[in-house]
Amino acid sequence: MWRRGGGCPVEPLEVSMDSEAKITPILIISCLMVATAGLMFGYDVGNSGGVTSMDDFLKKFFYSVYVRKIKHNYVEKSKYCIFNSQTLQLFTSSLYLAGIIATFFASYTTRHLGRKLTIVAAGFFFIIGVVFGAAAQNLAMLIIGRILLGCGVGFANQAVPLFLSEVAPAKIRGGLNILFQLNVTVGILFAALVNYGAAKIHPWGWRLSLGAAGIPAFVLTLGALVVDDTPTSLIERGCLQEGKAVLKKLCGTDNIESELKEIIEATRVAQQVKRPFRELLKRHNRPPLVIAIFLQIFQQLTGINAIMFYSPVLFISFGLGNDASLYAAVILGSVNVLATLVSIYAVDQAGRRLLLLEAGVQMFVSLIMITVVLRWHVIDKSGDLSHGTALILVVLICTYVAAFAWSWGPLGWLIPSEAFQLETRSAGQSVTVCVNLMFTFLIAQASLSMLCHLQYGIFAFFSGWVVVMTVFVYFFLPETENVPIEEISDKVWKNHWFWKRFIDDDRIPKTIVTVP
Ligand code: BGC
Repeated sequence: MWRRGGGCPVEPLEVSMDSEAKITPILIISCLMVATAGLMFGYDVGNSGGVTSMDDFLKKFFYSVYVRKIKHNYVEKSKYCIFNSQTLQLFTSSLYLAGIIATFFASYTTRHLGRKLTIVAAGFFFIIGVVFGAAAQNLAMLIIGRILLGCGVGFANQAVPLFLSEVAPAKIRGGLNILFQLNVTVGILFAALVNYGAAKIHPWGWRLSLGAAGIPAFVLTLGALVVDDTPTSLIERGCLQEGKAVLKKLCGTDNIESELKEIIEATRVAQQVKRPFRELLKRHNRPPLVIAIFLQIFQQLTGINAIMFYSPVLFISFGLGNDASLYAAVILGSVNVLATLVSIYAVDQAGRRLLLLEAGVQMFVSLIMITVVLRWHVIDKSGDLSHGTALILVVLICTYVAAFAWSWGPLGWLIPSEAFQLETRSAGQSVTVCVNLMFTFLIAQASLSMLCHLQYGIFAFFSGWVVVMTVFVYFFLPETENVPIEEISDKVWKNHWFWKRFIDDDRIPKTIVTVP
C-alpha cells in the first residue's frame, strides 16, 4: 500500500513498504512545479553578493562602500573591511526580516486557504518584488523590493515543503522533498551565472541581475496555478470529493480507500485542535519542536550563508580580482547543485543521520584548513593572493559546500517537515521557517562585520559550531528514513532514548507496521 502524509491512523493497519507503490507522472509534475519556489529562494540567496560587488550598483546606492573599494585598489592593507557596512548588509538581510513576519500569515493561509493558494500568493509577491528591485531609482525602492521578495520566501518556504511531504509516498519522501533544496541550489547557481554576465554590462547590469529573478517567479506562479492542492489540505478544508479525486489522480489507481481513511482520520484529529500554536507547546510535541528549532539554528550556524551571500565579496576580500571572484561563485554554485543530487539518492538509502554525521566531519576539517591557509597565505607582488593559494581556498570552500549540500542544506528542511503530526504541521513549519529566516537574517547582517573584525577567524568560529551540531545529531536526532510520516511519533520518538519520556502512551493509537 502507498501511504502519504497524514496523521495517526486509529485502526490497526498492516503496512508493507515495498507494495504496489506507483510513482505517477502527475505526482512528479506537481512536485516539480511546486518545487520551483526553491529557485526563487535560491536566486535571492545567490544574487545579492554578486550585485553588491558591482561598481555601478555600489556607486548608485552605497557610494561610501564604492569609495572604500576603489581606495583599496591603490592603498594596500587588509581588505577584510571593504564591505563592512550595515546598510549594505541590510540590503541582503531585509528580505529575511520580512520573511520572518510573513511566515505567521502564511501559517494561517496554509491551513485555511490551502497549500496551493499560499504558493500562488508567494508567486505574486515574488513578481512584484522583482519589478521594484529591477526598476529601483533609490534605496527605498530597492529595500521595498527586497521586503516583497521576503514575503514570497515566507509564504513559499512555509507551504512548499508541506506540499511535497504530503503528496510523497514514504519510500521516496526524502528524495522528493529534496527537490525543493535542489531548486534552491540551481537558483543560487543561476544567480551566480547571471551576475557573472551582468557585471560586464555597464551601467545597468545590476538591473538585469535583479530582474532575472522574474523568470523563476513567473514559472512558480504559473505552476502553482495549475497544480491541485494536496488531498490532505483539501479534506482538511471540507472538500472531500475533490480530495478523493486528487488522491486517485496522484496514486494512479481507484483503490485508495485505506489511504483516504487515514487522511480523514488525521484530519478529524487535526480539526479538534483549535489553537495549533498552543498545541505545539504541549509536552508530547516537544521532540519535533526542539529538533526543528535546533536544526534551523544549526543549519545557519554552519556559516553557509556567509559564503553563499557574500562569496564574490569574500573572494575580493581575500584578494582575488572582481572577475575571478564572480567566477569562483559559479564554481561553488555548481558544486552545491551536484552535491545536492547526491543527497537525493543517499537520503533514503544511507539515512539522514549518517549524512549529517559525515558532513559534520568534512565541514569541520575544511573550515579549519581554510582558517590555516588564510592565516599563513602567500601574497604575490601586487598584494593579491597567489594563484596557488587562491586555488587551494576555492577547493577547500568547495569541499565544505559539498558537505553542506548533501546534509544540512536539504535535511534542515526535510526533517522538520516530516517530524510533526498533521494537527501541528502548519504551525510547526511556520516555526521552522521563522527560526531559519531569523538566523539567516543574523548571518546576513553580521557576516561582513564579522569578517572585518575576526578576519580569517570567522571560519574557525563556524567550525566550533559544526562540532556542537554534530554532537547534537549524534545524541538527539533519531532516524526517520523510510518511516511513514504518520507513524513518526509511534516509531521514532517513542523509541528514542531521550525523547521517549515526552511521548504519552495513550495518545498514540496502536498501529501494526512492518518496515523492511
Ligand atoms: C538554506 C539556505 C542556504 C542554501 C544553500 C538552504 O537549505 O536554508 O539558507 O542558502 O541552503 O544551498
